Amino acid sequence: MKMDELMADYELPVELCPGVFWVGRRTKDELLHCNSYLIEIERDVGTLYILIDPGSPMDFRVSSGKVVQIMGSLERLSLITINHQDPDIILTLPVLLNRFSPNALVLMTENTWRLVSHTGIPKKRVRLVEQFQSGLRFKGAKRELKLVPTPFCHFTGAFAIYDVSNRILFTGDLFGGVTLNPHMLELYATEQNWQGIKMFHELYMPCNSALRHAVEQITRLEPPVEIIAPQHGSIIKGRLVREFLNRMKRLYVGADLLTDQMDKTMLDTWSMVANEILEEAKQILGTDVAISRLTENEDILDMIDFDNERLVIGKFPKQVVESMLLCLTEKEVPQIANMLKIKAILSCELHGLPAPTIDLSYDTDTTCEDLLPPVPDRNSKD
Ligand SMILES: [Fe+2]
Ligand SMILES: [Fe+2]
Repeated sequence: MKMDELMADYELPVELCPGVFWVGRRTKDELLHCNSYLIEIERDVGTLYILIDPGSPMDFRVSSGKVVQIMGSLERLSLITINHQDPDIILTLPVLLNRFSPNALVLMTENTWRLVSHTGIPKKRVRLVEQFQSGLRFKGAKRELKLVPTPFCHFTGAFAIYDVSNRILFTGDLFGGVTLNPHMLELYATEQNWQGIKMFHELYMPCNSALRHAVEQITRLEPPVEIIAPQHGSIIKGRLVREFLNRMKRLYVGADLLTDQMDKTMLDTWSMVANEILEEAKQILGTDVAISRLTENEDILDMIDFDNERLVIGKFPKQVVESMLLCLTEKEVPQIANMLKIKAILSCELHGLPAPTIDLSYDTDTTCEDLLPPVPDRNSKD
């Protein structure tokens, strides 16, 4: 689609699925675009309107205009949700509550409220996520919204909202992206958006373990998520949902990247461990399979070199070893996968390195004994 046609489309709200509207703003020249969403819930006793992440004054004229096109008046707003307390989410909250939407309540976690309370909004207008452990249900409505904690993504009190009937998950900054080129202005993400998502997360997310935890919460949701609607960048749907969830689980961000300052000796020791794992993988999986799994993974290729047959880690060594283990073992049955993972743990211990963060694989037939190395036979003469 031509850029002008695309921009013209963004003048209006976009209905993403029944009763869910994108009411954000797009411009040609900004690196960070904010998304707000409006959910319309039909009830026997009248319609409820919920605004997700109201946004900043920069976007208010456009996004509130779109909300008014849908609801008729901002006065009809029933609930505003706040993923966390950043200015790109809450700066319009006081004016909305005090002036335009006198009946609206606002939902956030207690940790977020402790900070948002400094805006002076009255406590009686606030509802806490912690009071709704089983989600939000509305009298006379069939729709249900689950509340999914996503701690440290990127604030400790962040949470996602799952519209179960539409299978759309509103994730705040998680899965948000910066707009690096005009293709990324499209409302729906393509493969090209990953680069902007990766960059945004490297800057604003604290560490891989927070991302992994959040992805685990998301992948447990039933029915499975079909659309991810973040507060920045493009909306993810179709096969990219599973693909980007998998990549997010492996992404190293924030404090993880500080290990880049490591000295040469330490990097050499990690390279030694990586080569020991690779040799074991060649024996178990076959040389061709082991090498192709590593070399087909662009994230790993970014961080390693091959010196003849020897693998050399250039940066983020613990992350490289963890990513290697994931891509070597994810298609293997637990017994095979665990042989390599345990080899990695023992190898790190032998060389005085911290153990990689990995999950051992399990199936229903696996016992604890299966995971232990074989006990040497004392009667053996060898
Ligand atoms: Fe934020
Ligand atoms: Fe944000």
